[in-house]
Amino acid sequence: MCGIIGFKGTGLVTAELVEGLQRMEYRGYDSWGVAVMTKKGIFVEKKVGAIGDGKLEQPPVDALLGIAHTRWATHGGVTKTNAHPHLSKDKRFAVAQNGIVENYLELKSSLQKQGYQFKTSTDTEVIVHLIDAKLKQVKIFAEAVRLAFLELIGRNTIITLDQQTEQIVAIRNGSPLVIGHLPDGGVLLASDTLPLAGKARTVTYLDDQQLVVINDKVSVFAVKTGKPLKLHQQKFDFIEQKIDKAGFDHFMLKEIVEQQYTIKEAVSYSDQELLPLIKALKKARTIYTVGAGTAAFAAGQIARVLRVVAKLPVQELKAYEIDSYLPLMSAKDLLLAVSQSGETADTLDAVGKAQKRGVTIASIVNMIGSTLSRGSQYAYLSRSGPEICVASTKAYTAQLAWGYLLAMTIIGKHKQAQAEIGKVAKKLKGYFTDQTFRQLQKLAIDLAKHEHFFVIGKAQHFYTALEGALKIKEITYKHFEGFSAGELKHGVIALIDQGTPVFGIVGNDQYQADVLSALAEVRARGARTFGITARPNEFFDVHIPAIDGGNLDSITKIIPFQLLSYFLGIQQKNNPDKPRNLAKSVTVK
Ligand code: M6R
Repeated sequence: MCGIIGFKGTGLVTAELVEGLQRMEYRGYDSWGVAVMTKKGIFVEKKVGAIGDGKLEQPPVDALLGIAHTRWATHGGVTKTNAHPHLSKDKRFAVAQNGIVENYLELKSSLQKQGYQFKTSTDTEVIVHLIDAKLKQVKIFAEAVRLAFLELIGRNTIITLDQQTEQIVAIRNGSPLVIGHLPDGGVLLASDTLPLAGKARTVTYLDDQQLVVINDKVSVFAVKTGKPLKLHQQKFDFIEQKIDKAGFDHFMLKEIVEQQYTIKEAVSYSDQELLPLIKALKKARTIYTVGAGTAAFAAGQIARVLRVVAKLPVQELKAYEIDSYLPLMSAKDLLLAVSQSGETADTLDAVGKAQKRGVTIASIVNMIGSTLSRGSQYAYLSRSGPEICVASTKAYTAQLAWGYLLAMTIIGKHKQAQAEIGKVAKKLKGYFTDQTFRQLQKLAIDLAKHEHFFVIGKAQHFYTALEGALKIKEITYKHFEGFSAGELKHGVIALIDQGTPVFGIVGNDQYQADVLSALAEVRARGARTFGITARPNEFFDVHIPAIDGGNLDSITKIIPFQLLSYFLGIQQKNNPDKPRNLAKSVTVK
C-alpha cells in the first residue's frame, strides 16, 4: 500500500526517484508524485494513474535531493490534489505518507481551529499542518516532524523533505522503510529493497518508531525519546534482477510461466538448513500456520501437508481471525507465517499477538529483508525473485513446494521431495505451450459472458478451489466462488441454475469420486461442468487439461486457474498486472 522513496546523492535526482517508484509501482498505482529540491525551492509534480514511463512535464535537472510516492488511496479520491507529496503552505517542506492517520478527524478540527485550511481530502494533510504547527514552536525541523508524529494514531510511515535544512526526515511505523547506502556516499530510502537492488552495497532496516535524518550523514533516532540510536548497516546482497517482462505482454504471464523454475528454487534448501525448524516443529505442542489472501491458502496447504505427510498437529488460521485462538497459545506453540511480501499488516499483527504469548515464530517469505523475516526465529525464503504482478502466482506455488519439502524432510524423504518437485517442474515446462494458451484463450472467450462461477474441490483441491476463485476474482472482477465438494448439498447447490458454470478439480486420488459425483449432481440440475484434470471424463461438458501432480497436485492444478484468470482478464480488457482497487503489499489494516 503506497510506495515511498527518498534520495540524496549525485546524479539525476528526479530520474532516480522515478526509477525507484517504477520498481515499487505494484505497491499502489492510483497516482504518483515527486517533490525535489533545487536551489530555487521545492518543485512538486503529481500525476493520476499508474507511473508507466514516468514522464514528468518539467523535471528539474539540478535537483539536490527529493522524495516521491506512489499511491493506493485510503482517504480522499484519486485526484492530482490528493496525490502525494503534499507541500506545506509556505512551500518550505513536503510530506508523503504510507498508512492511515486514524485520529485525523480530531486533529483536523483542532488544526482548523488554529487557522489551518485544508485543500485535500487526505489524512496526510493533517501531518503537513501538524509539522508546520510544531515547527513554529521548536524551530528544528526533525524535532517538529517527531513531535507531530507523536500525535498520530495508526500505522504510519512518513517521509519529508525540508528546503531550509536540505534534509530528508522519515519515520517508520507499521509499513517498512529501508535505507540503502550507495558506494558514492548517496542514500536511497525506500519502502522496500527493490529500488536498492544493484545500487546499495549496505542497507539499514529501520524498525518501527525510528526516525532517520538524511543530510550530509545518516542519523537514526528513537521516535519516543528523540535519543540517537546506533546505525546498523548490513551487507546487501540482493543482486539486481532485471525487472522486466522478458518479452511477455504482462508480468502476470511471465510469472506464471516462471513457475517451472521457481518451484525448484524454493526447494533448494538442504535438509541441514531445514533441521533447526524441524526440531522446533517436533517440539511444539500445536503448530499454527497463518497468512492472508493467497498466502492464507498457502498456509492452509502447508498445514495440510504437515498433517498428512509429517503427522504433526497443525492448524491453519487466517491472520485477521487469530484473536479467538490467542488464549490457547503459549510458549509451547509455534506459528509459521506465510507471506509473499513479509509486510502484510494483518499477518504482522497476528505474529505480534502470538509473540506476546511467547509463541515461537517461523516464516516463509518471498521478499528479502522483510519485517516478517527479520522478526522470525526461523526465517526461510521462497526464492522466487521479485513478484511484480499484484496477483500472487509464483510465490504461492514456491511456498507450497517449500512446505512439501519441509514435510517430507521431517519423515526423512528430503531427496525424494526435491526429485518429485523436479519432475513437476519438467512437466510444467511441457504444459506452458502455445497449445495450452490457445485452449485457455478460447475458453476465456466462451466464459466471458458469464458473471457467476463455482469451483469445487476436496482435500488439497479444496484450497486450490479457494485460491483459483480468488485469482479469477482479482483479475476478471467476476464472481467466482470456491467450496468443498462436501459442502454442496448443505446449501450451495441452491445456486445452481441452467447453464451455471461449475468447475471441478479432479485429482488421481481418493477424493476423485467425491468431486465427480458432486459434478454429476450439479449437472443434473442444469450446470455446465468443467473438469480440471489430466484426462477427459463423461461428467465434464468441457475438459480443461491439467498435469497430474500426485502429491503435488496443489501446484499443478492451480496453474489452469492462473492462466484462465489471465486470459479472461485480457478478454475483459483489464490490466492483469494492476487489478482495480488492489495493491500488492497490504500494509494497512
Ligand atoms: O504479501 P502477502 O503474501 O502477505 O500478501 C497477502 C495477500 O494480501 C495477498 O496474497 C493477496 O491476496 C494477493 N493479491 C493475492 O493474489
